[in-house]
Amino acid sequence: MEDNAKMEQFQQRIDAGEKIEPKDSMPEKYRKQLIRMISQHAHSEIVGMLPEGNWITRAPSLQRKLSLIAKVQDEAGHGLYLYCAAETLGIDRDELVQQLLDGKAKYSSIFNYPTLTWADIGVIGWLVDGAAIVNQTMLAKASYGPYSRAMIRICKEENFHKRQGMEIVATMAAGVPAQKKMAQDAVNRWWWPSLMMFGPHDSDSPNSGVLLKWKVKTKTNDELRQRFVNLTVPQARAMGLSIPDPNLKYDPETKNWNFGEIDWDEFYQVIKGNGPCNEERIEARRKAHRDGAWVRDAAAAYAAKHADKSNVA
Ligand code: 3HC
Repeated sequence: MEDNAKMEQFQQRIDAGEKIEPKDSMPEKYRKQLIRMISQHAHSEIVGMLPEGNWITRAPSLQRKLSLIAKVQDEAGHGLYLYCAAETLGIDRDELVQQLLDGKAKYSSIFNYPTLTWADIGVIGWLVDGAAIVNQTMLAKASYGPYSRAMIRICKEENFHKRQGMEIVATMAAGVPAQKKMAQDAVNRWWWPSLMMFGPHDSDSPNSGVLLKWKVKTKTNDELRQRFVNLTVPQARAMGLSIPDPNLKYDPETKNWNFGEIDWDEFYQVIKGNGPCNEERIEARRKAHRDGAWVRDAAAAYAAKHADKSNVA
């Protein structure tokens, strides 16, 4: 049982806007929530490399290949960064990775959709990284120090990801009719899954209450989703692309773009593992883990050898 006085003191620190650091006293539930959220975030970054990595060898020019390689490398770094943040909470990254490989850990639903054309790579940068920026800008104010600091660095790189994506989409939308059609098709396939990235409606979000109370989240799923829609619809219109939502309508009173209902059956099917690419993504991660075993063994042997030396010295 958590000592009430300690809980009260912790809440006072949160309410005062203080950062909680790894060695600070914290409720076990706070620690567990952060491990859940940060590990899923880390898994999402690593799995997110797969759909985009699929196009590195097929990028239409050297410049496009260079910026895509840079982006995918960034995502790997974000994942490792976030595994480090999770480890400050007393869990080992090998344990987290094994949970993912065993199919026991979640990662963002968005990465379970196929990348069918080059336009998908632009739309992922624009919509998926755009949605991530909206969410991560909020998480940069999270009460847990290591997570909020990781977000500050990651958001800087995400901005490059979004810009390179928008530039690809804008170029195709202003290209020949076949290119514009390809870009519109990609928007039609990625729009709704991008809205699902923000999670279920607030009323169906079992974790949001405590995350808001402890200022891990400072905005709700629906608030962030609405902000993303308000930012993105004008960008689509500027590029001459339409949003695949017949109910999309601007409300001059609230200054919001009101949008239609999300297909929550699809959302829950995808997070249950029944999305278009779930199996393919996990199998690719398992293969990469098997193929990379020799690197991990070599690094561990090197570290052990040098640890002995420094102990002797
Ligand atoms: N994909 C998979 N699972 C999701 C999900 C999604 N899009 N949205 C919600 N869920 C899961 C939650 O994990 C939770 O399940 P759990 O209790 O078993 O973990 C359940 O659905 C209920 O959702 P809640 O709203 O209660 O969960 P949260 O309060 O945690 O909110 C979240 C969900 C908004 C994803 C939040 O966890 C979050 O902000 N996570 C950190 C950011 C993150 O993970 N982003 C993923 C994308 S990373 C990315 O885009 C990389 C970029 O480089 C492209």
